[in-house]
Amino acid sequence: MSIRTPLIAGNWKMNKTATEATDLVKAIAAAVGTESAVQIVLCPPFTALSAVCAAAEGTHLAVGAQNMHDKTHGAFTGEVSAAMLRDLHVTHVILGHSERRAIFGEDDAFINRKVNAALAASLKPILCVGELLAEREAGTTNAVVKRQVELGLAGVPAGKAEQVIIAYEPVWAIGTGKTATPAMAQEVHAFIRSLLVTQFGAETAGRVRILYGGSMKPDNADALLAEHDIDGGLIGGASLEAKSFVDLVQSAAKSLTR
Ligand code: PGA
Repeated sequence: MSIRTPLIAGNWKMNKTATEATDLVKAIAAAVGTESAVQIVLCPPFTALSAVCAAAEGTHLAVGAQNMHDKTHGAFTGEVSAAMLRDLHVTHVILGHSERRAIFGEDDAFINRKVNAALAASLKPILCVGELLAEREAGTTNAVVKRQVELGLAGVPAGKAEQVIIAYEPVWAIGTGKTATPAMAQEVHAFIRSLLVTQFGAETAGRVRILYGGSMKPDNADALLAEHDIDGGLIGGASLEAKSFVDLVQSAAKSLTR
């Protein structure tokens, strides 16, 4: 059995008003109960964070943001800081999602500053990495992932590395219905863990959760989560409804008993 607690995170992207978000949290909390062998993190848009934190209080559900700025305060119109998230009782933050990289031009250096700022504020970063279709076809998947992991985690002290969660999300699988096969995903996850061994040592690397993301659904989750280095999922589309999301939590719980 893995020493790593499986983690299922819902990335709601730009979906759900605060009212809709509250209803979804209540439905998920009711289905999951107060205990689960799986760690669960819900990542609503900024405007729903406060409502989701309130609805999640006293449940087994943790709350994450989808982004933040690396600076503590100042003239950064439209941005929020780690301290602002902490103040709401947010515990996790997704950083470097491929949509932030592609649509909003975030580069590895900026993402790295955010990772370090999150850790300094005791927020757990969910660092997203993954190759484009053209990069996979050109055979450069490992090189791309290596760059994103190494630059993304630069300067992270070994003592804090266990707080980091990596999400491997092949960009061609996000929102497309195309999933990496379990074997393809496992290969990249094992490669990412080998990079963590080099940077932080085997013991720490063995404790870092590496999630898969990209069209993970109830019908493909069991096979993905059965792979040794796949420790959970970062779920987009299937996180927007309680039933499919809770099914994924149950798949992750089942993976512990295999
Ligand atoms: P998807 O999104 O599950 O809809 O493919 C995953 C993600 O973008 O994090």
